[in-house]
Amino acid sequence: MQKRLTTTAILLATVFLFNCTNGAQGTKGQKEKYQPIRTEVPARPAGQKDVLGLVTDKIDIVRVGFIGLGMRGPGAVQRFTHIPGIKIVALCDLYEKKVEKAQGILEKAGLPRAAAYSGSEEAWKELCRRDDIDLVYIATDWKHHAPMMVYAMEQGKHVACEVPSAMTLEDIWNVVNTAEKTQLHCMQLENCVYDFFELTTLNMAQQGLFGEVLHAEGSYIHDLSEYWGSYEGDWRMKYNKEFRGDVYATHGMGPAAQVLDIHRGDRMNTLVSMDTKPVNIPEYLIRERGLDRDSAYLFADGQHTMTMIHTEKGKTIHIQHDVSSPRPYSRMYQVSGTKGFANKYPEQGYALQSSVLAGSGVPNHENLSAHNYMPKEARDTLMAKYKHRIHRELEEKAKEVGGHGGMDFIMDYRLIYCLRNGLPLDMDVYDLAEWCSLAELSRISIENNNAPVEVPDFTRGNWNKIQGFRHAFVKE
Ligand SMILES: NC(=O)c1ccc[n+]([C@@H]2O[C@H](COP(=O)([O-])OP(=O)(O)OC[C@H]3O[C@@H](n4cnc5c(N)ncnc54)[C@H](O)[C@@H]3O)[C@@H](O)[C@H]2O)c1
Repeated sequence: MQKRLTTTAILLATVFLFNCTNGAQGTKGQKEKYQPIRTEVPARPAGQKDVLGLVTDKIDIVRVGFIGLGMRGPGAVQRFTHIPGIKIVALCDLYEKKVEKAQGILEKAGLPRAAAYSGSEEAWKELCRRDDIDLVYIATDWKHHAPMMVYAMEQGKHVACEVPSAMTLEDIWNVVNTAEKTQLHCMQLENCVYDFFELTTLNMAQQGLFGEVLHAEGSYIHDLSEYWGSYEGDWRMKYNKEFRGDVYATHGMGPAAQVLDIHRGDRMNTLVSMDTKPVNIPEYLIRERGLDRDSAYLFADGQHTMTMIHTEKGKTIHIQHDVSSPRPYSRMYQVSGTKGFANKYPEQGYALQSSVLAGSGVPNHENLSAHNYMPKEARDTLMAKYKHRIHRELEEKAKEVGGHGGMDFIMDYRLIYCLRNGLPLDMDVYDLAEWCSLAELSRISIENNNAPVEVPDFTRGNWNKIQGFRHAFVKE
């Protein structure tokens, strides 16, 4: 299936490229604008409407079923034991022993055991068919995500799914269409948008401290060599072996898209991607797994992949992916505006025009220079002043419960808070679609000499309906 889709995409791409190059010279000798490669945007099925700003009935106690209890899933079960207003109804994994281990988390928290599903590739469907579940929470390997989300929504359940929630454009459109058909929530579990620097910076941006934000960067740079052997059935290595492109873009995309109000006043128009040849993973496969050189180098994904995106409002985003170079962990995260700049890695820092901070209480702001980050004391005062409401309310508890320093707990808490209060979720199905689409779109660009590729408008014309990204809160 994957192969067939890829071939279709490439064919489409080739046809469009052919058209572009042939149409480059207009009839009157005028040079026409170069057209990006376009992928098919299926028409919205008759009778369906978008789910922008979707609100659903309040759920007093959110009844949850978990699918996928490998390295990531049990942490979610653990975090949910600390969230008020939930009931853990069912647990599912291919393997009984993993379900049993997760039951241990419930027992330790003094909660009743959940219904258990395991032993077959399709046992998760039984979980989805239960009539006492409101939310299906998915943390399996990437290929299972989209079919599980679609099926769960078809059974009337809200869904939350680990990153990336969908790997191909066909899967993404299926997920979008199903969310619109069922009018149910479909949230990608992108935790990095809740990290402390990112959310503080978003708040500063929304208060105008950076002036007009023009550019944002993000990445997933993480040497996974110590983890390759731990993924069930080696799914992650297999995926990277077969797939060329940015297969894990959402950690970088999430914070960048939110600060740029993507599909809330702006939209991504085109992207261009490039990659280096793969070296470190093939060498790892030779060294650690005894593969011969030829087989090891039959490896699709580049070692370092870069994508540049241009938006309708003239902004840019730069995203990188690298899971094998010996580099310190980095999600890059940079925000660059007309009046200021934020940078997270390797050291958190801000550079702002002094005038922005007049009357702010930030010490020594009159002496700030655009050539340097502001001094630590000024930065700390600024960050305390612009601490996001979500962090003011949740930081202490989040750090106690943990999960990547607390951001995972905040993500789960916000999901349940919004469901319980009938509020739009922080991330909707179009965020999922846009952030995940980089996988296939970057591949198309790379495989066509790094040609520009159009980013589909997954809202199908409604990207300007909501003005500005904002988190929803209960009105006091
Ligand atoms: N957001 C983050 O920071 C973060 C961190 C780690 C992993 N992840 C994501 O979490 C997901 C899971 O990653 P992981 O590291 O836990 O992988 P894993 O291989 O450890 O776990 C996947 C689990 O899914 C189960 N599974 C597979 N097919 C199934 C089926 N048909 N029915 C039921 N269970 C099935 C497997 O048995 C396994 O236990 C991935 O999408 C990954 O990218 C996200």
